[in-house]
Amino acid sequence: MSTLSFSGKIGIANDHAGVDYKNNLVKWLEDCGVEVVNFGTDSTESMDYTDVAHPLAEAVLAGKVDLGIALCGTGNGMAITLNKHQGIRAGLAWSKEIAALVKRHNNANVLVMPARFIPYEKAQELVKTWLETEFEGGRHQRRIDKIDCK
Ligand code: RB5
Repeated sequence: MSTLSFSGKIGIANDHAGVDYKNNLVKWLEDCGVEVVNFGTDSTESMDYTDVAHPLAEAVLAGKVDLGIALCGTGNGMAITLNKHQGIRAGLAWSKEIAALVKRHNNANVLVMPARFIPYEKAQELVKTWLETEFEGGRHQRRIDKIDCK
């Protein structure tokens, strides 16, 4: 088991493409002492990622969870839907470097991963990297302040 330096509550959402990854991530996170709220489907039957992405976004914005993790086949459906919510910064990551930068530069409050395009071990590495990376602030905060449409 890989250790994790993070304390907080995480919401996780997935469609049918991300069930196994979700289950493994939940087990690992809970083994690391992290509380996880499951917004995703537990079935591999085809479903619409939108039906679980919106509740996850609402929970993050309401402070019911501190951060979110989302999984679908490519990650794009989840990212596009989550980012419709003002205040959500959902970043798609598929490499360790991008997972670090999406926190360091974009302060992503939801990490989105493409379950059909990365192995599970990579997904766990991305979550660990993202959770353990600090936001840099400064010029990146200035850019974040300009994201929302008026
Ligand atoms: C489901 O087949 C697939 O479309 C979905 O998981 C995701 O990749 C959409 O963006």
